[in-house]
Formats: sequence, structure tokens, C-alpha cells
Amino acid sequence: MTEQLDLSAQAILRANDRGGYTVPNGQVYPFQWNWDSAFVAMGFATFDPGRGWQELETLFKAQWPGGFVPHIVFWQDDDGYFPGPDIWASGTNPRTSGITQPPVAATAARVVWERAPTAEFRTRLEALFPKLMAYHRWFRDMRDPEKRGIVVTVHPWETGRDNSPEWDAPGDPLDVSQVGQYARRDTGHLDAKMRPTKLEYDRYLALVQFGRSTGWDQARIARESPFRVADVGMSMILLRANRDLLVLAELLGKADEADELRAMIARSEAGIEFLWDPDKQCWASRDMITRKPSGFVTSASFLSFYAGLRDADKDAATLAHFARIAAKVRFMVPSLDPEDPGFQMVRYWRGPVWAVVNWMIGTGLLEQGRSAEGERVVRDTRSMMNQTGFFEAYSPIDGAGSGGDDFSWTAAIWLLLAER
Ligand code: SER
Repeated sequence: MTEQLDLSAQAILRANDRGGYTVPNGQVYPFQWNWDSAFVAMGFATFDPGRGWQELETLFKAQWPGGFVPHIVFWQDDDGYFPGPDIWASGTNPRTSGITQPPVAATAARVVWERAPTAEFRTRLEALFPKLMAYHRWFRDMRDPEKRGIVVTVHPWETGRDNSPEWDAPGDPLDVSQVGQYARRDTGHLDAKMRPTKLEYDRYLALVQFGRSTGWDQARIARESPFRVADVGMSMILLRANRDLLVLAELLGKADEADELRAMIARSEAGIEFLWDPDKQCWASRDMITRKPSGFVTSASFLSFYAGLRDADKDAATLAHFARIAAKVRFMVPSLDPEDPGFQMVRYWRGPVWAVVNWMIGTGLLEQGRSAEGERVVRDTRSMMNQTGFFEAYSPIDGAGSGGDDFSWTAAIWLLLAER
């Protein structure tokens, strides 16, 4: 059974390969996505490390001169997705979006490297390293205006957790009156109850219009965007990625870059407490305009272990939330606290379990010796896939699939977990 699933997972990655990059799902997401490709690279590394490297190399071919790596690369046309390259109007070749996504790439590079540390792959790591450095510097310079060592996002799509309720209050003041008519494509492929609402899409598009009106001037967007939220998910993921990039810098003997990364890590370790919500006793995102914490316990609240943070009181409070939630759901880790009134078991980032987030949470818990919780996360992730197949996400209540099927990053996580 397990072997059969291994083969199916590999077959999904091969089938979604478009020649050097992998689409998350052929219908719903027919282009290259940034953090999807990072997870896919790790999945490929379990059976074809060269193809894993290629996934990352292709993504970084779309890097902009300032280090920015877009969240979507439109390598070819496909009108099955909205908004396409004409709406983004990046003016680049290849055409891309103008926002980024959680920076998993350096972590992926480390995992891919460690699976097959050969001379040939060392050359590829050496070539990718400066691009990863440029990307991390870009985060430092363009997404952290107060120099706290966190990530201040300017678009819900950038967080990868598109319709998390964490973006509701920060999104309320957005003016959507100029968005005009548009035709969504996602709800043509999937049941609308699994997807964000019209109001959320209006806000996404208003923010795209704003970015485009600046000519995708990232410094100006960082200063003036009407949506500026310190995202706990991206902040934890970047901190982890900086640690992984530091390991690679040391391996390659890049002393200056290693120092630079140590400084970034130290800044985050000192500053990330800004994202601790003392009332809710959880890690949470925070609106930079109103300064208010979101007040939501989401799956991103459990990424502190993955980020390598250790703090006895905060860890205990975080694990108490974990235990409370674990008693309520069959499958950990729901994207939103099931006791929250806004919890919906199939609506995208308002309840469903995402295998990639589980991989990060499980990895962090196990690394820090939280075996019971870590094993629960790994076990649940594998059983959802066993029961249902490789869906985009799953209901935490009954494991039913949500979103697209034959999903690349879910297949990749199966392969990564298969050896545990
Ligand atoms: N996840 C987004 C979508 O649903 C884009 O990144 O279109």
C-alpha cells in the first residue's frame, strides 16, 4: 500500500512537470508557484535529486534584479487561471506576479543537497547560493521596515494563506470600489464553498491594482501599501530558512555571507516577540497600521518550533493550544482553531489541514524533542493521504479532500514523510 502510494506520488510530480517546473495542479494552478516549487523540489529529491535542483533553478530564473522572487511565474499562457499575466503587468521576461511568497527555497536547497551531496550537485548549490542570499537580503530590505527581523507582507496572497481570518481586520479599510467587473476561474474548477469569498477577491485585486500603479516599486509598496501586516507564518519560515542558508554558507566557506545571516537570525531572535499575542497566549500575525495582533490561533501559530525558537513559557502556552485543538479534531493541524466561530472545515485557510504546513510543524516539533505532538502531526498527515489521496487540503474533521486533487506539494510531502 505504502509503496503504491509512493509510486502514485512520484507519478503526480512527473505528470505535473511542465519541463523544468511543476504546476501545483494542472487545472486550478497552471503556472509555477514559488513555495509550491520549494516543496516539490524536496519531494523530487527523494527519487530524482537532479530534478529537485532543476525545480529551484527554474524558479530563480524568474528572480528580479533586486533579489525579489515572484509568487507566480507565467512561463506559458493558460486562461484557466485568474488573474493572469496581463493583470499583473510585471513588465518582466518571463512575466510574473509582483508579490512574493513564504521563502521555503533555502530550506528546500538544504534538504535537496543533503539527500545527495555529490560533486555535481555541489556545483549547482554553489550557483544557486548567491541567488538565495539575494532573496533573503530582499526580505530584510523590503519586507521589514522597522528592522525587527520579521516579515511585513503587503498582500494576503503573499502569505500563501490567502483567506486566513488574520487578514480580515487589516483588509476592512481597503477601498474596493475601483475593482470593476472580473471573472474568477477558481470557482469554475472547484466548489465555491472551498474558496475565498467575493469580498476577499475584491481586496486581493484592489491590492494588485495598487502594486501595479507603483510599477511594482517594492520599496514604495512596502512604505505605502494600504495593507501591511506582520505575518507570523512568513516570519517563522524566513527565520528557519535563514538558519538553513547559514548551514549552506558555512559548508561553502562563505564567511561574509555567514556573518550576514547570523546577523539576520540574531535580529529575528530579538525581535520576533513582536508577534506574540499576550492576551491569546499564542504566536499571531499583527497589523502594522493599527498595531493590533490578529487574535487568531492558526496553524502558523505552531511554526515557532520549526523556526528554532525556544522559550519555556511560550512553548508551554503553544503546546496547550495544540492539546486543546488536538482533542477537537480527527486530523491535526487545522488552519484555524476549530473553536473559533469562523472555523469552516472545507474553506481553504479557514479550517482545512495543509500537508505542507504539517510538514513544517511536525519537523519543528520532532527536532525539539516534542515527540508525542510531532508524531501525531506526521501520523495524521499520512492517514489523510492514505484515506483520501493527494488533495490540496483536507477537512480536519473527517479527512475529506478540499480543493484540487493530484496536488504536487501534497504528493511531495508524502514522499518526504514516507521514510519516517
Ligand atoms: N493561492 C492563490 C490563488 O488561489 C494564488 O497564490 O489563486
